[in-house]
Amino acid sequence: MSKELMQWVELNRAALTSNIKQFRSLIGDKINLLAVVKANAYGHGILEISKMALKAGVGWLGVHSLDEGLLLRQEGIDCPLLVLGYVPSQELERAVTHGLRLTVYNLDTIHFLAQICRRLKKEALLHLKVETGTNRQGILEEDVLAFTQEIRKHPYLVVEGLSSHFANIEDTTDHTYSRLQLKRFKRIIKKVEENNTEIPIKHMACTAATILFPDTYFDMVRVGIGMYGLWPSKETYLSSILEKQKPILLKPVLSWKTRIAQIKKIPQGSFIGYGCTYRTTRETVLGVLPVGYYDGYSRNLSNYSYVLIKGHRAPLRGRVCMDFIMVDITDIPGVDLEDEVILLGQEGEEVISADYLADLASTINYDIVTRINNLIPRVII
Ligand SMILES: Cc1ncc(COP(=O)(O)O)c(C=O)c1O
Repeated sequence: MSKELMQWVELNRAALTSNIKQFRSLIGDKINLLAVVKANAYGHGILEISKMALKAGVGWLGVHSLDEGLLLRQEGIDCPLLVLGYVPSQELERAVTHGLRLTVYNLDTIHFLAQICRRLKKEALLHLKVETGTNRQGILEEDVLAFTQEIRKHPYLVVEGLSSHFANIEDTTDHTYSRLQLKRFKRIIKKVEENNTEIPIKHMACTAATILFPDTYFDMVRVGIGMYGLWPSKETYLSSILEKQKPILLKPVLSWKTRIAQIKKIPQGSFIGYGCTYRTTRETVLGVLPVGYYDGYSRNLSNYSYVLIKGHRAPLRGRVCMDFIMVDITDIPGVDLEDEVILLGQEGEEVISADYLADLASTINYDIVTRINNLIPRVII
């Protein structure tokens, strides 16, 4: 890697393509595959991932915000783009103008959209989000028919989709609650269709549902974490085995790297970093790395995690600072200034996975990768 970069994220195109193929082989050719690229593609890099994913056979992209959607449109990405989050009323016109599909669940949004679309003489494609038990965004079951009836009054408003989201599919091997949500979703679909609203694209499945339950596919699946080569949870992996499946092979797409900014020998008994939380028990060769919690390296990893240098583990010493971490390289021979360091990734037999860092930091792999600062260059390999 270019010596000018002191920190970068590598994206493995072959891994992404292989993961997409795995999901395609689960769902077949007829069901739409939406790649969830919100939150800067879970920290991977929204532009890089979106372009690669589309080349690898994904048909739809899902973003959280209008800004993410517009960024993709500016880059010439013209595939169906679904905004999963909330678009402020004042910004709805821009969404319609750029042909973004909208997730809707407020009647106020429908009224604003009706006015805008009438004025622009342009259709808006809507995906109604219905509440099945996550109690996040969503139209309550008892309000769904009034909602669709209101939409039907406005010729420029088109119901393209109906969606919902599972609350408790990753955290458990007991899928009773997911089954209940699925049942409610089917009941709502039936009500809406019997009330003369056609729904071309029904969708509910995230990665875990796509891996575990084909009866959640409907017309489209929305896959995030699995496309990046990470399992939603240990429970999902275990559930896959309990469901008598051969777990699919997911390959992590992202590696995170830096270089050594200083090497120095410090005496036994020296304190390292803020708060003097670590004190050397021997003369120590210390490597200083220009990465900190600003970059997304969790402060919860202070004194816990390690990095890889020349295929060896170098343990973190002291607290993670805003822009630096310090590691013990005493036992690794031949380390030089600006040598490459792996923060997350693999070297030889040693692996630092997002799951491992998540365990250490008391969080989930989604959180580890999503926080990687978007200013760090993304390099496709
Ligand atoms: C509405 C919605 N659909 C799909 C996903 C994708 O979930 P996963 O990354 O577990 O596949 C998310 C992620 O949070 C989501 O919020």
